[in-house]
Parts: sequence; C-alpha cells; structure tokens
Amino acid sequence: MHIVFAASECVPFAKTGGLADVVGTLPPALVRLGHRVTTYVPYYRSVARNLPDLPVVIESLTIPFPSYQRYVRVLDGGLQEGVQVYFFDCPEMFDRESLYGTPSGDYVDNWERFALYSRAVIETSKILGIPDVFHANDWQAALVAIYLRSLYFFDPVLRKVPCVLTVHNAGYQGWFPADTMPRLMLPWEMFTFDKLEAFDNVNLLKGGLVYADALTTVSKHYATEIQTQEFGNGLEDIFARRSDDLYGILNGVDYEEWDPSRDTHIAAHYSADDLEGKQECRRDLLHAFDLHGVKETTAILGVVSRFATQKGFDMLAGILPELVKDDVVLLCLGTGEEYYERLMTELAGRFPDKVRVQIKYDNTIAHKIEAGSDIFLMPSRYEPSGLNQMYSLRYGTVPVVRSTGGLEDTITELHEGEGNGFKFHGYNQWDFLDAIRRALATFQNKPQWEAMMARGMAEDFSWEKPAAEYVEVYQKVIERRSWS
Ligand code: ADP
Ligand code: GLC
Repeated sequence: MHIVFAASECVPFAKTGGLADVVGTLPPALVRLGHRVTTYVPYYRSVARNLPDLPVVIESLTIPFPSYQRYVRVLDGGLQEGVQVYFFDCPEMFDRESLYGTPSGDYVDNWERFALYSRAVIETSKILGIPDVFHANDWQAALVAIYLRSLYFFDPVLRKVPCVLTVHNAGYQGWFPADTMPRLMLPWEMFTFDKLEAFDNVNLLKGGLVYADALTTVSKHYATEIQTQEFGNGLEDIFARRSDDLYGILNGVDYEEWDPSRDTHIAAHYSADDLEGKQECRRDLLHAFDLHGVKETTAILGVVSRFATQKGFDMLAGILPELVKDDVVLLCLGTGEEYYERLMTELAGRFPDKVRVQIKYDNTIAHKIEAGSDIFLMPSRYEPSGLNQMYSLRYGTVPVVRSTGGLEDTITELHEGEGNGFKFHGYNQWDFLDAIRRALATFQNKPQWEAMMARGMAEDFSWEKPAAEYVEVYQKVIERRSWS
C-alpha cells in the first residue's frame, strides 16, 4: 500500500515537539512492514540551511488563491530509511526564523502557509503518485481531509482515496477569522457549526474531524478523554459522534535514536546489565548545566519540554520553594511561551544552587538529561501520548507523571515490587510534590531503585505494534471508500 504522510514537522528535518518524532519514525516502521511511504515537509529556513542543494523535481507548482497564485518548488529529499521525502519550497511562506511563530505569538498568516502546504500535498501527489491513503496530522494538515471532500470533490481519482487524520494534540486547532473561508477557497455552506464553524471563527481541526474517513489519536486513554468536556477543548461532541471511527494508537519509540547503549549524544553508554556509564552521564550532565559539587546521593530531577500551559509548569513553579528543601537538583531544558520562559528563568535565579534552566531547543542536551537524570518530571495537564516518559524508561530515569492520556497508559505506580514510575491524579501541586517525594524515598533504597530502573529499561514501546495498528485503520478506510 502507498501512504502519503502530511505533517508540519518531521525528524530529522524540522521539530518543535513529539509530532516530528512520530512523523519521522512511524513511516520507516510502515516501510519495514512492506509498505511504500511518501512524506511531504515544508522547506523551512532551518531545513534549507541544512540541506541547501537538493534536486528539483517540480520547478513550479501553481497553488491558486482567490485573487492571486503562489508557486511551490518541489525538492527531492531522497529516501530516508526507505521513506521518500519531498520538500515544498515557497520562501515567502516558509523561509522564516521559526516553524509557527515567535514566543509572543503565532504568525498571522498560518492559515495561508498550511493551506498552501495541504494543497501542495494533494497536487504533488497527483503528479508524483496518488497514494492508497493520505495520513494527515494535526490542524496544519487537516485541510488535506477538508479539501479532498470539497475543492477536489469531483476528482474521479481522489474521490476513491481516503484520508486518516491523527490528532496529536486537541489543544491546537487552527482558529482563524470567518473571512478566512473565501481565502481558503471554501464555500460558505461549509461555515456551519456541524462543519468548520466554531464561535463565528474557522476551526481547521474541527473541519478535519468532520471530513476525514477515520480519526486516530496517540493513546487509548486520550481517545476516551477527548470525548469529555474536560479534555475535548470544545470538540468533545464531534469526537463522541465519531467514536466508531476514532482509534487510540499509542506512539512508538525509535530505539535507534533513544537508547543509552548506542546513543551518540551522551558521555558514556550503559544498559540494564551494566549501569556504570550512567554515572559518567550524570557528571557530564551536571557539567553541561555548570553545576558543581553535587553529591552522588543527591537526586537529579530532569525536565525536557515545550514551555506551554499543557505541560504543568505552573505546578512545578508552585512546589519549587518547598521541593528545593529536599536533597535534589532540578535541571530543565525548554522553549516556548514567553510567560513560562520568564517564570523558569526567575526560579533558576532564586535557587541558583538547586535549579538550572536552559531556554533553548537542543537535541543533545535533551539526550543528556534523559541519560544523566535520576528522575524525569512530566506533570502535564493533559498529554495525548508523551514520548519523554517512554524515553526516560529506557534510560533508567524513573518518571514522575500525572496520570493523563499516554502517561496513564505507559506508567504504572510502584506497588509491591511492581511498577515503573510514580503517578498522581488530580491537577494539584501538592499531589505532585507527594509523588516526587515517594520517588525520592525510593531513590534512597538502592536495590529497590535499581530494580525499578531495570523494569523501566526492559519496557518495549517500539513502533512494530502501533505501525501494524495503523495499517489496519488504513485497510478499513480504503475498503470503505472503494464503495464510493
Ligand atoms: P510534545 O509533543 O507535546 O512536545 P512529547 O513528549 O511527545 O511532547 O515530545 C517532545 C519531544 O520534543 C521529545 O522528543 C523531546 O525530547 C523534544 N523536546 C521538547 N523540548 C525540547 C527542547 N527544548 N530541546 C530539545 N528537545 C526538546
Ligand atoms: C503532541 C502531544 C504529545 C504527543 C506528540 C506526538 O504534541 O502533546 O503528547 O506525544 O504530539 O504524538
């Protein structure tokens, strides 16, 4: 089967979060199962910097807008682990400092950037190979599903091609003013509450949920959560309405990239059988954060995260004055919303011997934190899947998480010699502190702690199983659409 992946991020080319990991590592797993995959990625400035001279496959693809046209050059990114990658070069849309915006807000023309992207996916596929199924991801590619059933409705070939939409995060929906409808070349008939309209605005994710042939999200627990008011972000009724077509498939992990026995970013290799290298990684991590004189018995708490409300930094900030009284240091890597960047910088300033923060995106430091920390913190408000807790397990870095979404599906609380981590339930900072303190108490008991590390390191979240689950979904929608 030929699958076209449409997404705004993909490792190793462009990444702000876990979406990129999934889009870069699920397709190779599908290839290993015998399928053909093509992935289309915007030629962002950061991509162009790393890959400046790519062969041109299509010189000038015309993408019409109501009173003007834009032009896209399609570049050949070659085969990446068997996956054919193409880039869309349109400098006025993608040659910018960031993927989506600056710390103070999103680019206002994101509707146009991702409409151009989505139409280019469809148009390029018509030239380079119509797939058996499109797999669109998040609001940025939701227009693939929407356009297929509107602008392209009468296309005799495309009408037989289904589109699966994966929701990696229902908190990001692509909201734009109502007058975006004609700019997107969509008819006003689609601007109704049961389609793209929400509170008098255009909601692209909502449109995708309505028009995609099947929906998936990235854990079983999140698939049920988003059907409730608390987690649905206003889309709970659509998720519930489409529950027969909604599948929860937990993200996989690329252990080629995230495994301490072969990780190329860390100071020393180690495994469950030989943990010695972890001490070296710990020293190297402290050095990377310029912290000296930390005792071996002090627990290192690590955080790697986008700075967004979703991730629970308000709770972390709330408990820090209390937490620093314990024998811990906190090392935090992240970027994102200005508010959290300031908050974390201030806290690091208040507790310089205990808290260090690096405000940047840095893959090497992310790996060093996974390897060199003892405990990894993820107090998320909600977490569709979460990858860092699964990475942490493999690095013997015990996760403390809030039991939501994929965190609930992957982490089990220590109980009678079983369990791989520590969990708390309500969104309550004292429950969070309590969970950290349970972890710290166990950390003092070396044999118990090492047994726990070993259980985590033995967990296997590789892509094989989830990739096969995606294939089942593809087969279902292909069969269904063949009747249309
Ligand atoms: P989300 O997609 O919501 O950000 P995930 O846990 O699924 O959360 O994935 C986050 C991914 O992004 C991980 O691979 C993590 O290592 C990476 N990441 C997040 N922030 C940074 C950062 N500042 N520097 C490097 N990597 C980061
Ligand atoms: C999102 C979610 C995260 C998930 C990632 C990849 O950004 O916040 O939980 O792991 O997408 O699916």
